[in-house]
Formats: sequence, C-alpha cells, structure tokens
Amino acid sequence: MNILVTGGAGFIGSALIRFLIEHTNHQVLNLDKLTYAGNLESLSSIARNPRYHFYQADIIDSYALAKIFDNFQPDAVMNLAAETHVDRSINGASNFIQTNIIGTFHLLESSRIYWQKLSKEKRLSFRFHHISTDEVFGDLKDSSLFFTEMTPYAPSSPYSASKASSDHLVRAWYRTYGLPIILTNCSNNYGPYHFPEKLIPLSILNALSGKLLPIYGNGEQIRDWLYVDDHVRALYTVLTKGKTGESYNIGGHNEQRNIDVVNLICDLLEKLAPKKPIGINKYRDLITYVKDRPGHDIRYAIDASKIKNELGWVPKESFTSGLTKTVKWYIENPVWVENIQTGEYKNWIKKQYNNI
Ligand code: NAD
Ligand code: DAU
Repeated sequence: MNILVTGGAGFIGSALIRFLIEHTNHQVLNLDKLTYAGNLESLSSIARNPRYHFYQADIIDSYALAKIFDNFQPDAVMNLAAETHVDRSINGASNFIQTNIIGTFHLLESSRIYWQKLSKEKRLSFRFHHISTDEVFGDLKDSSLFFTEMTPYAPSSPYSASKASSDHLVRAWYRTYGLPIILTNCSNNYGPYHFPEKLIPLSILNALSGKLLPIYGNGEQIRDWLYVDDHVRALYTVLTKGKTGESYNIGGHNEQRNIDVVNLICDLLEKLAPKKPIGINKYRDLITYVKDRPGHDIRYAIDASKIKNELGWVPKESFTSGLTKTVKWYIENPVWVENIQTGEYKNWIKKQYNNI
C-alpha cells in the first residue's frame, strides 16, 4: 500500500511510521505541518529508507492536499495530525478548532474527491482511518463503568470537543458519501519520544533535573495507560482487518491514579538514576500539588473487547515493563530531550507552572 500518514512527526505518528517502515513493505508519506509538537528527529532511524517520504504541509491547505493525493496516490490515509494537549486547549482553543475540525474537514474533502475518481476496485479497498481519543466520551464517575463504542459523546475540554467534532465529520462522510472510513478511539499513550508537556515525560524529566513534579488537584484522577507501540499495532490491525464505517475502542486495561503514576516513576528513577541532583534526598519529595485543571475529567476507562474479539488485538506491554522502558529511554536520550526543550517549550512551562 501507499499510506499517507498525517501528523507523522508527532509522538504516536512517529511510532506508527517507524513500525510501518521496520515491519511492513508499504510506502509511507508523512504529511506534517511541524508545529511545536512535530519533531523529525523522532524519525531519524528510518529517515533514509527509500520507502519513507516527507512533505511539510498543513491539513487545512486543500491545494497542497490535492497535489499530494495526485502525486502519491494513497491506498490509505491515517489521520493523526492534531493539536493534542488539553491544557493548551484551555489556554487558547483557536488552533484546536482550525486543525482538529477544519483541518479534518479539508482532509476528508480531499480524500473524497480523490477517492471518487479511483477505479471501482481501488475505491473498495481505500481506507480513511481517523485516529481519535477516549476523551470524546467525557468522564466516568462510577468505577464499574467503561467506555464502549456505544457510549454517547460528552466531551469536556476544548480539545476533546474538537476531536468529537472531527469524529462526527468522519462518520458523516461515510454515511453521506460512502467514503470508506474507520475510526479508533484510544486511551492515554505513553512511551519514548513523548513531548515533555504531558504527565509522564514531564514527570520523568523534571525529576531527573531536580524540578518539582506538579500534580493537578488531589491527584486522584484516573487514566487508562497504553504503551505507544501497542497502540500502533492496534492501528495497523484496524487498518488492515477492520470493517469500514465502524469504530474501535483501544485501551490498556490499565487504570491508574495520577499520583500512583508519578510515585511509580519516582520509584523507578530511584533504581535507574540513583545519583540525584544536589539537594534531592528522594524523588518522591519533589511531588507538589498545584491548582486543578479546569473541567478536569475524573476517570477514563476503555472496554476494548470489540477490537479483541473481532480483530484479535490485545496489548503486550504491562505498565511496569512499559514504564521501565520509557524511563530508561529518557535517561539514555539526552540529546533528543535537549533539542526539544527549545524556547517555545520553556515559554509553555513558564506560563503553565509559573507558581511552582
Ligand atoms: P502530537 O501532539 O505528539 O503530534 C501531533 C502531530 O500533528 C505533530 O507532529 C504536529 O506537527 C502535527 N500537526 C498539528 N497540526 C497539524 C496540521 N494542521 N497539519 C499537519 N500536521 C499537523 O500528538 P499525538 O499524541 O501523537 O497524537 C496523535 C493523534 O492521536 C491525535 O489525533 C490525538 O488526538 C490522538 N490520540 C492521542 C493520544 C495520546 O495519549 N497522545 C491518545 C489517544 C488519541
Ligand atoms: O485519553 C487520551 C488523551 O490523553 C489524548 O487524547 C490526549 O491527546 C493526551 O494528551 C492525553 O490527555 P490527558 O489530559 O489525559 O494527558 P496529560 O498527560 O496532559 O494528563 C494526564 C493526567 O495528569 C490528567 O489527569 C492531568 C494530570 N496532570 C497533567 C500534567 C501535565 C497533572 O496532574 N499534572 C501535570 O503537570
């Protein structure tokens, strides 16, 4: 296949492209705007492979999209391009509306126009795979409940509302035009190459440099964590075996309170990086409770039985093994870390955490 991956310089997109180049024979075109979250260094291990191609563009740019579709002739589009950080969406939602909603619209339209001109056989096998989040379902207050594919949408933040909108557009393009779409809604990912504004990489890097570990509110909020390579295998399984028009929930069967996640990171660092910055006795001493995130979702938990029963996917990594690999990766890759901590990153950290 020729696979057009959007957002391939991001955290999950780069893991997906590394998988596609290392474990399949497909041609891959990475279309990425290279926002603050896009980093081509995450693709340096496969960048010279002749099956990998890169094009810098915005998914909102329908002219660029038409050119790319014409030249690359994709058999599948996997849309990961998005603004993804909830706290940034609370600070200013404009980019989220632009990329996640208007950008998805332009990508759908470009795909539809291209798809309608394909031969009957190619039209049947074409796939538009939209990668979405469990946050579209809002949160679960009752500990016995899980998100299924039938759970009604009830997004809480500007980010999740923009992702919910994009999911609705994708479904409408299936129902109205017959565009062969597939939708996946995944829980929180973690792993190497994760931009250090999200909880897990932020905590690892702050701890390693003796900075405080900010916990929003009481730290009791629950997320369902999935190792990024497990997500990537799920995406490829859905792309190649999933049924068009369907959505699949992807999750790690791994619910953790935020405070427990950060405690575990501290404990792993005690073993993996025992030599601490001057003045630090125990990594756990760096934990500090800060003002809560407005509209903070309390609990996410995925029921992933559909993808397991219908497509045979289950996660391979346990939380301890995945988190150990992740912590080791950040310790062993100081150059990647240093290069990502640019002026833009520093400005964000100052704006978001200026009181600690
Ligand atoms: P990320 O923020 O790490 O990367 C996003 C990528 O999209 C970046 O490379 C960025 O440059 C690119 N991009 C942003 N706007 C663009 C535009 N207008 N045109 C082209 N490229 C653009 O994101 P991620 O964590 O890798 O998430 C990828 C997708 O998976 C997103 O759709 C997200 O909603 C979804 N998702 C993420 C998680 C998670 O835990 N990270 C969980 C479930 C679903
Ligand atoms: O559930 C899937 C979603 O997971 C994805 O759709 C999003 O793109 C991704 O960013 C992630 O969203 P979260 O808001 O859950 O991730 P984040 O790492 O920002 O926060 C995880 C939890 O940790 C959340 O309850 C907020 C809390 N938190 C976060 C930060 C950055 C803290 O307590 N302190 C922090 O400094």
